[in-house]
Amino acid sequence: MGFNVAIDGPAGAGKSTIAKLVAKETGFIYVDTGAMYRALAVHFLNEGLDGNDVSAIEKACEDASVSIKYENGVQKVLLNGKDVSTLIREEKVGNMASKSSCVPKVREKLLELQRNLAKEEDVIMDGRDIGTNSLPNAEVKIYLTASVSTRAKRRFDELTEKCIVCDYNEIYKDIEERDYRDMNRETAPLKQAADAILVDSSDMTIEEVVKEIIKHINDER
Ligand code: DC
Repeated sequence: MGFNVAIDGPAGAGKSTIAKLVAKETGFIYVDTGAMYRALAVHFLNEGLDGNDVSAIEKACEDASVSIKYENGVQKVLLNGKDVSTLIREEKVGNMASKSSCVPKVREKLLELQRNLAKEEDVIMDGRDIGTNSLPNAEVKIYLTASVSTRAKRRFDELTEKCIVCDYNEIYKDIEERDYRDMNRETAPLKQAADAILVDSSDMTIEEVVKEIIKHINDER
């Protein structure tokens, strides 16, 4: 059994940035579970499905297979054998993933993949329900959050830096909607596990957050 670190939290809290850095320092494998939900979302979009059409999504699940591979330590996500790691970052894919991840069959499909990865390796896995559902026995659980305005500002700066024209208010609204969906769905909603450590990064630098998480890992090792 590997040593497991779970990082959950809302969209834009910096989970993947932080988890990648912690993985680099500890030698753990970084597992991005959002990428798995996004890969399935690509399939549903390719099929022209409505994110709220539960029965169509359940049916489409049957022809989709998601797998993960690592190239030089970087996670690549495959949909039916095809690398969709770039495609999954599109905004429309994130929005579809937020909707389709409410469907229990979608979650079931990815749960085994997540648990198998954690069984074999020391992993730092990020998502929404890792500490509460996927890896309830993880040695370290972190709930990483930040205020909506901080998260919207970070996203705005990130897109602006890439010369992508965007609107702060729209991003803010999008984050609020995504939080609501992720936190209020029936199956495995986003919430802080009872034994998770709360880290609010609103007024912390990336280095400070990484240092704090590594301290918790060292305390448990
Ligand atoms: O972290 P992300 O933005 O890549 O995730 C995309 C969507 O996938 C997110 O809105 C909710 C869903 N998700 C989930 O339900 N459970 C996870 N463990 C990871 C992601």
